[in-house]
Amino acid sequence: MKHYKIAVLAGDGIGPEITHEALKVLELIEERNAVTFELMPAAFGACAYFEFGDAFPQGTIDICDKADAILKGPIGLSHEESKKIPVDKQPERGALLPMRRRYNTYANFRPVSLPKALAHFSPLKPEIIGEGIDLIMVRELVGGLYFGSKERGINDQGLRYVKETLEYDELQIRRIMHQAFKLAMKRRKLLHNIHKSNVLMSSVLWNEVMEEVAKEYPEVEVVNYLVDAAATALCLKPTQFDVMVMENMFGDILSDQGGGILGSLGLMPSACLGDDKAYYEPSHGSAPDIAGKGIANPYSMIGSVAMMLESSFGMDGEAKNVWAAMQGVFADGYSTADLSKSGSGVVMISTQQFGDKVVEKLRAMPK
Ligand code: NAD
Ligand code: IPM
Ligand code: MN
Repeated sequence: MKHYKIAVLAGDGIGPEITHEALKVLELIEERNAVTFELMPAAFGACAYFEFGDAFPQGTIDICDKADAILKGPIGLSHEESKKIPVDKQPERGALLPMRRRYNTYANFRPVSLPKALAHFSPLKPEIIGEGIDLIMVRELVGGLYFGSKERGINDQGLRYVKETLEYDELQIRRIMHQAFKLAMKRRKLLHNIHKSNVLMSSVLWNEVMEEVAKEYPEVEVVNYLVDAAATALCLKPTQFDVMVMENMFGDILSDQGGGILGSLGLMPSACLGDDKAYYEPSHGSAPDIAGKGIANPYSMIGSVAMMLESSFGMDGEAKNVWAAMQGVFADGYSTADLSKSGSGVVMISTQQFGDKVVEKLRAMPK
């Protein structure tokens, strides 16, 4: 019997609602397999700040340190609410980035996937979706502008100014490139390298290192794209992409655009992998506009569980079953409010009902 410790950080806003559904799925996985999961809930995010004065309190750090994997819900407050917390203590700077740094989770995998049968969820025309969108963005997660030096002050002319630096070294670029090329080898052997080397020196180094690493993967075809052009291409011809690799900030923005072309950020799970530790979280935020209404789409969180099963516990078969169970719920014509608006006769169900239906589907599937 395998035994895994999972830190469960439900987070803010819709976090607890979608985490609740993800845990139902995890419970069923436990029932169906020779595995036990020790769930270790802990406070993380704005909720932790209000309770403990710290968005990533020591108690939570201790729990995460000893966990085999971390399942994390979205954190953060609405624009107005976040003013209640000092800037440096806000959950993004005070919890999320410190977690990424602490566990050195440099490789963020963000799948953007929509089968042809669900093309009606997307704002794109069916002919653009073609046989379906199935790409994965590989986002560098612990470098770039997010982790550069930051300075704020008054300049010589008496004006307020800020300075934030975009820093990468070749090791940081090489390791994310290896992740991207390895993934490309398992898929279509096609890698889109996203950069801005016509302006940024960081992209010049990025591309140099990419070309060095590419020599180790001669079977992979590399296509270079400037990030701005890639944004358009994602709308006009998303099916050309398979694996896309990019630096931190580009990945933040393009992956939300990925959610846009699918029809909802609720379809965006992710895995954040380091060499020794991994955590799993939806790509989206705490959705303050719909929090507490029971209408959030838990696909992103349940999908993050599927990614955890595969990447942290080697349970590839069950991970595939979880994806299939969710697709099955959609195929039966059900969805949460974010996608049922597509005007295609989709029956709207709640967050909980979606979770229940996934569990029902999964239970009926052979292992
Ligand atoms: P958001 O991603 O929370 O929401 C954007 C839009 O997408 C909203 O209309 C929301 O209702 C919708 N949405 C998101 N997830 C959904 C789901 N599962 N089901 C249905 N609809 C969904 O972005 P925002 O409003 O700009 O940010 C809110 C807060 O979240 C901010 O404080 C931000 O910093 C934080 N944030 C946290 C993370 C994280 O924890 N990794 C990621 C992104 C944003
Ligand atoms: C994400 C989020 C975070 C990011 C924020 C909340 C710090 O937008 O995970 O995409 O920008 O990385
Ligand atoms: Mn983001």
